[in-house]
Amino acid sequence: MLSMPRFAVAASLMAAAGSVLAYDDEVCGSGGYHSDGNAYAFYPNAWDPEDGGFTCMGINQDPPEFDVTWRWTETPDSVNSYPHVKFQNTNVPSSIGNITSLRLKTSWGLGGPDEDFPVEGIQASDINAIDLRCNVGWDMFGASDLEASQAEVNATTEIMIWLGLFGKPWPLGYSKEPKYPAQTLGGVDFNLYDGMNERGQTVLTWVAAENVTEFDAEVLPLIEYLLDNDFVDGDDILGLVEFGSEAFYATDNVTFSAYNMEVTLETDDPEDKYPFSGGDDGDDGSDDDNAGVSAARLSLGLVFGAFISAASFLL
Ligand SMILES: *[C@@H]1O[C@H](CO)[C@@H](O)[C@H](O)[C@H]1NC(C)=O
Ligand SMILES: *[C@@H]1O[C@H](CO)[C@@H](O)[C@H](O)[C@H]1NC(C)=O
Ligand SMILES: *[C@@H]1O[C@H](CO)[C@@H](O)[C@H](O)[C@H]1NC(C)=O
Ligand SMILES: *[C@@H]1O[C@H](CO)[C@@H](O)[C@H](O)[C@H]1NC(C)=O
Repeated sequence: MLSMPRFAVAASLMAAAGSVLAYDDEVCGSGGYHSDGNAYAFYPNAWDPEDGGFTCMGINQDPPEFDVTWRWTETPDSVNSYPHVKFQNTNVPSSIGNITSLRLKTSWGLGGPDEDFPVEGIQASDINAIDLRCNVGWDMFGASDLEASQAEVNATTEIMIWLGLFGKPWPLGYSKEPKYPAQTLGGVDFNLYDGMNERGQTVLTWVAAENVTEFDAEVLPLIEYLLDNDFVDGDDILGLVEFGSEAFYATDNVTFSAYNMEVTLETDDPEDKYPFSGGDDGDDGSDDDNAGVSAARLSLGLVFGAFISAASFLL
C-alpha cells in the first residue's frame, strides 16, 4: 500500500504539478519533515491509504508552505489522509483558560490534475470534474495532561475550524439546523457542531458558512464560546495546532496548496509555559529525507491518522 518508492513518487509530484518548483523536501505517504529548529513539522499523513492512491507533499520550510497532490478513488465516505503542517513556533502548549489571543492566518488553493503549484483560490470547474470530497481546516488538540495534549491519539478534546468544504463531508454532530448561535469572524459565520468520536474524544468543529481561502483572524471568540459554555475546561492545555485538508475522495489528482501561514498565541501568564514535545511523533529531524519509512514510523503515522479521521464523516 505504501510501497511506492519515494524518489519515484516525489518525481511524479513535480510532473503532476506541471511546473517544476524547488522544494526544501518532498515527502509521500506516511513520511514527515521537520523544519530547521523544529519550528514546523509537515506530514502528507496517509493514515488509511488505498491501493492505487497516493499523497505526496512538496515542502518549503521558511516561510512554511506546502503543495500536495493526492488521489483516493475507492471510498467516497472515509478520510484517507490529512496532509498538514504542525506549528511548533508558538506558545503552544498553553492553558486554554489563559489564552488572551490566538491569531490564525493562512491562504490556500485547491484544484484538479492540471493545476500548477502553488494553486491559488478554488478552481471550481476542476473540482466539479473530479467529484472532490475534502475539507480544509485548522485542527487543535487539548487535554488536562500535558503529554496527552500533544498527542492526537491521547488528547481528550479536538477543536477544528473548517475553512473549506467540498462534496459535503460534515463534522461530528452535524445537524441541518445548528444547535448553537453562529459566531462571526471577519464577516463569515461559523457554526459549531459537537460530538464524540469512537475514541471517546470530544470533537468541537466550527464550520465556515462559505469557503474562506484567505483567513487571518483572532479566533479567541470561538475558544471563549467553548469555555463559557463548558465544552472545554479552562485548565486544559492546548497542545497542538495544525492546518491541512482531510482528503476523502476524488476521481483524479487533487492539488492543494497552503501558504501565508502563521500562528500567534498569547497568554496572560508568563509563567504558563510548557515544553513542546508533540513534534516528535515518529519522524526524525530536519534532514528527514530520502531515508525510507521505517515500520515504526509507519505504524505511528497510521495511529495518528486514525485519530484525525474520526473527527469527520461524510453525510
Ligand atoms: C496524477 O499524479 C500522478 C503521480 O504524480 C502522475 O503520474 C499522473 O500523471 C497525474 N495525472 C494527471 C492527469 O496529471
Ligand atoms: C498515548 O498514551 C499511551 C498510554 O499512556 C502511551 O503509551 C502512548 O505513548 C501515548 N501516545 C503518544 C503518541 O504519546
Ligand atoms: C466551496 O466551493 C465548492 C466548489 O465551488 C462548493 O461546491 C462548496 O459548496 C463550497 N463550500 C461552501 C462551504 O460554500
Ligand atoms: C492562569 O495563570 C494563573 C497565574 O497567572 C494561574 O494561577 C492559573 O491557574 C492559570 N489558569 C489556568 C486556567 O491555567
